[in-house]
Amino acid sequence: MKILLTGTSGQLGRSLAKALQDVGEIITPQRAELDLSDIASIAPYIQQCKPDLIINPAAYTAVDLAEKESELAFRVNAEAPAILAQEAKNLGIGLIHFSTDYVFDGSKSIAVGERASYSESDTCAPLNVYGASKLAGEQAIVKSGCAHLIFRTSWVYSDFGKNFLLTILRLAKEKTELNIVNDQWGTPSSTLFLSETVKQVILQLKNDVTHAKTHAETTAAWWQQHQGIYHLTPNGYTNWCEFSQRIVAHAAQFGLLSFPLPKIQGIPSSAYPTPAQRPKNSCLDKRKFSQEFGIPLPDWDLALQSCLQSMASEKLQSTAN
Ligand SMILES: NC(=O)c1ccc[n+]([C@@H]2O[C@H](COP(=O)([O-])OP(=O)(O)OC[C@H]3O[C@@H](n4cnc5c(N)ncnc54)[C@H](OP(=O)(O)O)[C@@H]3O)[C@@H](O)[C@H]2O)c1
Repeated sequence: MKILLTGTSGQLGRSLAKALQDVGEIITPQRAELDLSDIASIAPYIQQCKPDLIINPAAYTAVDLAEKESELAFRVNAEAPAILAQEAKNLGIGLIHFSTDYVFDGSKSIAVGERASYSESDTCAPLNVYGASKLAGEQAIVKSGCAHLIFRTSWVYSDFGKNFLLTILRLAKEKTELNIVNDQWGTPSSTLFLSETVKQVILQLKNDVTHAKTHAETTAAWWQQHQGIYHLTPNGYTNWCEFSQRIVAHAAQFGLLSFPLPKIQGIPSSAYPTPAQRPKNSCLDKRKFSQEFGIPLPDWDLALQSCLQSMASEKLQSTAN
């Protein structure tokens, strides 16, 4: 299986490249080879590459800057996925795309619990340009009629890149006190969790096709049966303040931070204004994903521990070398 994987200089793309290396031949164009803001260049690149599957974690992800760079955000997050989808359709292959909890306005009850989480059929009403551009990308993919899986995820972090986990680890070394927003609720998703889970979905596709009589027909049947939009995060929910407290506590446990640890206290969003408005509740209901693929989801705190544990063992290895 030849997989065209975009965005491998980003958090999720990098994790996917690692997770999928034994699944097939992975083609990982950097921006210089495939610039998703250069719309006219996308189709020729795909036609020359001839993949069996396209995975698109690349995106314009600067949520606050997008308020000023709306045109670029829409080009990368909506127009480019539309072309990827059209080319996938022309080639008769599938497209796996990632979207965001920010397609919702967060007004659903914040007395959180599974029932207050957003399902795939809930109305989307993004509060910011980034969310609107990602929603437009989803809609273009669905409208194209290509075989697709769109995974909406949230609060993505990893041991690499620009993310909340690494910011908190840095601040915890620099400061004695941190004030973190405690009235935005959602679910942190490590790229380790996301990439391993998406790998299992792809293995289900590969397995079905390998055991089938005609490759093209069964691939099409698999996509027809499973395609759609799915919410994909670990289980449970938290707010940014509690997330920070767990990061610091677990990082200390795994030797990534030393005592004394900073005091972390909650503040309302109103005390930390940002150019882009964020939803107060972006908890996602994952039952559709679980029913469709039967892949168990860990609790978000366990996924966090796995990420920090792997960071700690990599640090140990690099000091030993
Ligand atoms: N981060 C989050 O909290 C979050 C939350 C919910 C959903 N998501 C979604 O999850 C997916 C992965 O996010 P992430 O956090 O891994 O993103 P990321 O770390 O910001 O990486 C984005 C990737 O997209 C690439 N990219 C941006 N503009 C491009 C262009 N014009 N042409 C080609 N490549 C381009 C970047 O390449 P360069 O290195 O060249 O810039 C980078 O490799 C995205 O679809 C995002 O919308 C993210």
